[in-house]
Amino acid sequence: MEFIFRIFQDYRNLYNMIFNKRTHTCGELNTGNIGESVTLNGWIAKRRDLGGLLFIDLRDRYGLTQLKINPDKKDIYETALSLGNEFVISATGKVIKRESINKNIPTGEIEIDVDILQILNESEITPFVVEEEIKATEELRLQYRYLDLRRKQMTDNLVMRNEVYQIVHQYYYKQNFIEVETPVLMKSTPEGARDYLVPSRVHKGKFYALPQSPQTYKQLLMVSGLDRYVQICKCFRDEDLRADRQPEFTQIDVEMSFVDQEDIFRISEGLYREIWKKILNYDLPETFNRITYDEAMNTYGIDKPDFRIKDIMKITDITDTVRNVDFKVYQESISDGGIVAAVNLSREKCLLKGEVTRKIIDNYTELVKKLGLGGLGYVKYNTDGQIQSPLSKFLGEDIMINIKNILEAKEGDTVFIASGKKSVVLSALGQLRLKIAEENNLLDDKKFEFVWITDFPLFHWEEEDKCFVGEHHLFTMPKPEYLHLLDSKDKDEIESIRANCYDLVLNGNEIGSGSIRINVSDIQKKVFSIVGLSDDEANEKFGFLLKAFKFGAPPHGGVAFGFDRIISILKGIKSIREVIAFPKTVSASSLMDECPSKVTDVQLNELGLRIKEEK
Ligand code: AMO
Repeated sequence: MEFIFRIFQDYRNLYNMIFNKRTHTCGELNTGNIGESVTLNGWIAKRRDLGGLLFIDLRDRYGLTQLKINPDKKDIYETALSLGNEFVISATGKVIKRESINKNIPTGEIEIDVDILQILNESEITPFVVEEEIKATEELRLQYRYLDLRRKQMTDNLVMRNEVYQIVHQYYYKQNFIEVETPVLMKSTPEGARDYLVPSRVHKGKFYALPQSPQTYKQLLMVSGLDRYVQICKCFRDEDLRADRQPEFTQIDVEMSFVDQEDIFRISEGLYREIWKKILNYDLPETFNRITYDEAMNTYGIDKPDFRIKDIMKITDITDTVRNVDFKVYQESISDGGIVAAVNLSREKCLLKGEVTRKIIDNYTELVKKLGLGGLGYVKYNTDGQIQSPLSKFLGEDIMINIKNILEAKEGDTVFIASGKKSVVLSALGQLRLKIAEENNLLDDKKFEFVWITDFPLFHWEEEDKCFVGEHHLFTMPKPEYLHLLDSKDKDEIESIRANCYDLVLNGNEIGSGSIRINVSDIQKKVFSIVGLSDDEANEKFGFLLKAFKFGAPPHGGVAFGFDRIISILKGIKSIREVIAFPKTVSASSLMDECPSKVTDVQLNELGLRIKEEK
C-alpha cells in the first residue's frame, strides 16, 4: 500500500514539476526533505550575488526558502540574473543541506539547488521594498495594500483573524447559538453615531442606512424565538476616527433570551478563555474582575480602566480632609460643588528609577492643564523624612501627614493633588495615571486584564443641547431599583438612574458592550419621553420594533464585541488598521481604490440627487 502511495506521489510531483506547479510551499521544507526533488512557486523577496553563486529568497504566505543558482547551469543562471524583486517564479531542484544555517526561519537548514527556473510573471519596481522592518509611510502602505499584505507580519495578522473567526463560530455553535445574517440595507435609526446613507433609486428621496450594528434585528430575532443568536458582522459608523476606530468594523454580535447579566458574562468569559488558550496558550481566570461604572470613575477617572495597573495611583477624594484649609483655590472648588482629589505616585509600586524632578512635575502640570484643570499641586515625602510642597503654607504639616496616611504614601513618594469640577478632576487624574504608567513601562502587553464595568447611567445630560441622551442605546433596561425614577422630573434623579448595562474592558480598551433590554412597552415609552421622543416620533423611528414587542417579546439581552480590537490586542498592536485587510484612513478614505469617489451625473439623476455647490 505504502509502495503504491509512493509511486502516486512521485507521479504527482513529476506532473507538478512539468507544469511548474508547486510540490511544496516555501515554509515547509526541512532536513527531512534532503535529497527530494521539489518545485516551489513564490515571489522573490531578495537576490544575493555571492561571487558567482546566486541566492534567492523565495517567499509565499507560508515562509521563505533559499534557492541556490550555480553559474555552471548557464541557462538558468542567465534567467536568474534578469530576475527582480517581487517577480513570481517557479523553481525546481533538489533539497540540499545549507552551508550557512539561518536559525531564524524554519527552512533555514536547507536550500534548493535549482535545475529549472521559470518566470511566471514579472513585477515592476515596487513603490517600497516589501520587508519586515518596513520603511514606507503608512500612506504608501495603504495605497499599495496588496503589497503590504505580502509581509509576514501583515499576513500573520490576517491568519490570526481567521483562527479567531473559527474559534468564535465553533464556540457559539457548541453552545447552541444560531448564526443569522441580518440586512446591510436598513432603516436609518438614531443609534449614537451618524449613519452612512444609501439613496434608493426606486424610491426617490428615500434612503437606506448601513447598520451601525444589527441591534434592532437581533432583538427582533428574539421576538421570533431564535433564543440564541450570534453573528460576526460588519458595522458602519460615520464618526471621528482614531487608532481603535474605523468607519466599518467587525463585531461579534450576540443576543440571548430568558437570561440575566450573569448568563451573558458566563458565556462571554468562556469565549475569551477559549480564544486566549488556543491562540496564546494563556490561561484567563474562571471569572473576570467586575466594578461598577461609579467605582471606575471615582477610582480611575475613566470608564475603561486598565487593570494591569489596578492598584497603582488610585484616585482618592480628600475634599473632607482639606475642607477647612485656608486656600482660595480649594475653597472655590468646594463651594462650587467640586472636589479635591489626590493620587500617590508610589516609588515602589510605580517602579520609579529616578527622582520626581521639577521638570517631570511641570510636564504633568501641563498635561492636566490641557485637560481643564487650573494646575497640579504636589506634596513630596522625601526619604530623609522632610516634606516638600508648594502648598505647605496652606495645608500645614498635620494635613500633609493626614494626606500621607489616607493615600498610604511612604517616604520617597509624591502625592499629586487636583481640585475643580468633579468630572474634570477625575478625568485629568485618570489620564495622569495612564501617562505615568506608560512612562514607567507598567503596561506589559504580554499581560491581559479583563474587567466588566457594570451599572452604567441610563442617561447622560448633553449640556450643549440641554437634553438627556441614552448612555447606551434606548432599549437598555434600567435596574429594577431605579424604575420608579423614570417618572421623576428632577434632573439629578434622572441622572442617577443606573442601567442593566455593561462594558467589557481589556487592558484599558473597551472591547465589548451590552445590556439587558427593555421588553415592556410602558418602560420603553418612559425612556423615549425622557430623551424627548414623542409617541409619534418614537413610532416613526422605531415603530417596527415597538409593534413587534406587542406580540410576545421574551426578556432578552446581549452584547457585542469589537473583533478588530480583540485581534490587535492579541497581536500587541496599537492600531486596528494593521489587523484589517483593507482599512480606511483617519479621514475615512481608502487610498488604494480612492474611495469615496465622485459618481456620474447619470447615476445622480437616477437617484434623484443633486450635489449642492460649496459656497
Ligand atoms: P457598541 O456601540 O458599544 O455596542 O459597540 C460594541 C463594540 O464594538 C467596538 N466598536 C468599534 N470598533 C472599531 N471601530 C469602531 N468605530 C467601533 N465602534 C465600536 C467596541 C465596542 O465595545 N449594539 C450594541 C451592543 C449591544 O448592546 O448588544 C453596540 O454596537 O469594541
